[in-house]
Amino acid sequence: MAEALGRLAGKVALVTGAANGIGAAIARRFVAEGALVALADRDAEAGSALVAELGASATLVVCDVAEDGAATRAVEATVERFGRIDVLVNNAGITHSATFLEIDAADFDRVLAINLRAYFCFGQAAARQMVAQGDGGTIVNMSSVNAVLAIPDQVPYVVSKGAVNQLTKVMAVSLADHGIRVNAIGPGTIATELATRAVLGSEAARRKIMSRTPLRRLGDPAEVADVALFLAGSESSYLTGQVIYPDGGRLALNYTIALD
Ligand SMILES: NC(=O)c1ccc[n+]([C@@H]2O[C@H](COP(=O)([O-])OP(=O)(O)OC[C@H]3O[C@@H](n4cnc5c(N)ncnc54)[C@H](O)[C@@H]3O)[C@@H](O)[C@H]2O)c1
Repeated sequence: MAEALGRLAGKVALVTGAANGIGAAIARRFVAEGALVALADRDAEAGSALVAELGASATLVVCDVAEDGAATRAVEATVERFGRIDVLVNNAGITHSATFLEIDAADFDRVLAINLRAYFCFGQAAARQMVAQGDGGTIVNMSSVNAVLAIPDQVPYVVSKGAVNQLTKVMAVSLADHGIRVNAIGPGTIATELATRAVLGSEAARRKIMSRTPLRRLGDPAEVADVALFLAGSESSYLTGQVIYPDGGRLALNYTIALD
């Protein structure tokens, strides 16, 4: 059999939240580029379907990333199946819509547990494995334009993404001596279930987003996967501690653009 070719040939990746949306696009792209990919997700049905599509290059680890021990178990399962781990993509994330005056502390905690604490736990477990292997690695954290912008009814989400940017920096400087690079991606509005639930509920909401998007369209999950591929692979070899924003121009725009 011909040896797999591609920009991630021979690499093993663990991608959280890989059963749907952006994570699934990343898993597909990584496998297409020659990687072996472990998909960590709590959605067993969608995860199994994606593994069936991707074949022997993919495996599913069903877990709630926020549970204690989930990160260690997922890294162990990846190593058991594919022998090592070279790339971690921390991508699983949720939103909770409520005003600042009404949100419960328990809902705040739940979002932070999945969107931030799990990134730390998976980052630490994967980095420990990479350090033991002794030849470096790459970690990509999924942030958002909401790391630096704010939506009134997305309180814990905004907080979690701001913290992911700082987590990315502290991981980058802490792990640099081990040859582990850590970067983040801060997408604008990408056409997925999460975006539909959180900010695309009505035509008015969609128009509001378009009025803030110079490229005048939603992003496609595959366009975020392209950035993940760049950050995971050797083409970004001198990049660490950075956030790249595939946002259709959102962060560059002051005021709004006229529609119609
Ligand atoms: N879609 C956007 O517009 C957008 C914009 C910026 C950032 N992001 C970020 O991209 C990431 C992926 O978002 P998406 O739009 O693809 O969402 P999505 O809802 O389509 O997919 C999220 C995936 O994560 C999984 N997941 C959620 N909580 C989990 C948990 N506790 N344990 C295990 N798996 C869990 C879900 O099962 C699902 O497969 C998130 O971190 C999100 O904040 C999305």
